[in-house]
Amino acid sequence: MGGVRKTAVVTGASSGIGAATARRLAAEGFNVVLAARRRERLDALVEQIGKEVPGAGRLAAVTLDVTSQDSVDALAAGLPACHVLVNNAGGAIGMEPVAEADPEDWRVMYDTNVLGLLRVTKALLPKLIDSGDGHVVNITSLAGHVPYEGGAGYNAAKHAAVAVNEVMRLELVDKPVRVTEIAPGMVHTEEFSLVRFRGDAERAAKVYEGVPEPLVAEDVADCVAWAVTRPSHVNIDRIDVQPRVQATPYKIHRV
Ligand SMILES: NC(=O)c1ccc[n+]([C@@H]2O[C@H](COP(=O)([O-])OP(=O)(O)OC[C@H]3O[C@@H](n4cnc5c(N)ncnc54)[C@H](OP(=O)(O)O)[C@@H]3O)[C@@H](O)[C@H]2O)c1
Repeated sequence: MGGVRKTAVVTGASSGIGAATARRLAAEGFNVVLAARRRERLDALVEQIGKEVPGAGRLAAVTLDVTSQDSVDALAAGLPACHVLVNNAGGAIGMEPVAEADPEDWRVMYDTNVLGLLRVTKALLPKLIDSGDGHVVNITSLAGHVPYEGGAGYNAAKHAAVAVNEVMRLELVDKPVRVTEIAPGMVHTEEFSLVRFRGDAERAAKVYEGVPEPLVAEDVADCVAWAVTRPSHVNIDRIDVQPRVQATPYKIHRV
């Protein structure tokens, strides 16, 4: 069985959507490379997934900073093969209106959500093509399609990621590589809002206050798993996914 397993690389696999995706792809029979900056969390997840998923393939933890070309090059150099790349590393910083926004926050968001996607995709593309059945899954956001007040920096970065995703599908049309965008609405993950509000747990908790059932990381992992397990001639272009109680970023039913 080991020889026929495909390899999936998941960036930002140390928490939230990335961790859930790594677990789910292991359960779907992939060898999984979990990549992020916090190595100790990745090592713990590798151990946990190995125990939780009977018959899991190879699981590997790789330290990766998508804002560092050297780090991305090291990931690519250590990878014998790659069939699926899930560009998930990213996130938001701050929610200030444009009038008060800090360009440094915007720079970090662009570096992570857009240039990170470019660096990792570019580095792994030869392996994705060589696999004969490659697939790039980009985790963008509803914020990449619908602007909202206070969201400009994150909106801009995710809109850019959406554009890159679309261009990739055009450019790779004659290659054996599928390109899928997954654009989630509100997902209650442990760290997304905590990072956005710079560790302010109270403010982070308010984001999900009264929301009966936001999406959870496993819901997005489910979308990834579905897209990558379609027959290889089927390209799922984009999945927009929101909790039932959300209609758009600023229209959320709270109880
Ligand atoms: N939660 C939501 O509501 C939501 C909605 C739509 C889209 N998204 C998108 O979904 C993705 C995952 O979000 P999440 O909710 O799971 O957030 P999260 O729990 O904060 O996870 C973000 C992941 O990205 C990694 N990361 C951040 N900067 C990195 C860097 N420079 N290099 C490598 N890895 C980096 C983090 O790991 P390390 O810190 O260990 O590096 C972490 O594993 C993001 O792209 C986010 O924008 C989230």
